[in-house]
Amino acid sequence: MAIDKDLQGLQAGNPRHIAIIMDGNGRWAQKRFMPRAVGHQAGVKAVRKIVEYCAIQKIEVLTLFAFSSENWRRPEEEVSLLMSLFLSTLQREVDKLDRNNIRLRFIGDRSAFSDKLQIKMAEGEAQTQDNNALTLVIAANYGGHWDMCQAFRQVMDKIAIGELKDQAIDEQLISRHLSTADLPDPDLFIRTGGEQRVSNFMLWQLAYTEMYFTPTLWPDFDQNSLEEAINSFKGRQRRFGHTGEQVLAKSITQ
Ligand code: IPE
Ligand code: IPE
Ligand code: MG
Repeated sequence: MAIDKDLQGLQAGNPRHIAIIMDGNGRWAQKRFMPRAVGHQAGVKAVRKIVEYCAIQKIEVLTLFAFSSENWRRPEEEVSLLMSLFLSTLQREVDKLDRNNIRLRFIGDRSAFSDKLQIKMAEGEAQTQDNNALTLVIAANYGGHWDMCQAFRQVMDKIAIGELKDQAIDEQLISRHLSTADLPDPDLFIRTGGEQRVSNFMLWQLAYTEMYFTPTLWPDFDQNSLEEAINSFKGRQRRFGHTGEQVLAKSITQ
């Protein structure tokens, strides 16, 4: 979605869309002298708790970065462990998500995944597509650069067949061709694990997102940690280029 240039809604309330880089699984395990795989398994448990909390809090969209387009560079053993964990988690959790009225979505280049996994992903999306509580977006083999490339390819194809004129290219049009086309941009970005970088996550969509970094390792990130992040968000003034005074004047007259 395009940046809201109107003054409405600039005083941060509850975030509509929370996007999280779930980092620190490996270090969590290493601290316990256990293999990294154990950290990833503990990470799945943390996902369950956070999804549940977001549903209860009536957050509209939760996006979780599960596997980046760069994570293929990891040792083969870890990549294959992550793939099987992804598949087994889907097999176990989709019915539960469905029962809780949660809509499951995936963003990223899924063509690199096994057929079995791709089928399970499509089934999970189809089964939950009419749910209207939380939308849970899993970013898998996702990269912000990939997202922009695939959007540009779609736009170029439409221009080539005369469906679009190049003068029609503006920010809204690009947004509408990203993998998040029908979703609001993230209001709150959280990265666990202490690193303060974006690592090729939703590059376009994060233009005006509030950033929150915590040293807490992902498997230790719980409801209280998320509440802390949301409280930090609520204490912020979102200006979108305006002055603080303009924002305050508007919120008084509302
Ligand atoms: C995040 O945890 C999970 C994935 C990238 C799949 P890491 O595996 O990156 O954990 P650290 O950063 O090595 O601790
Ligand atoms: C980012 O974490 C990707 C996910 C959490 C899925 P990484 O641990 O892979 O990020 P970098 O490579 O350290 O920046
Ligand atoms: Mg990491």
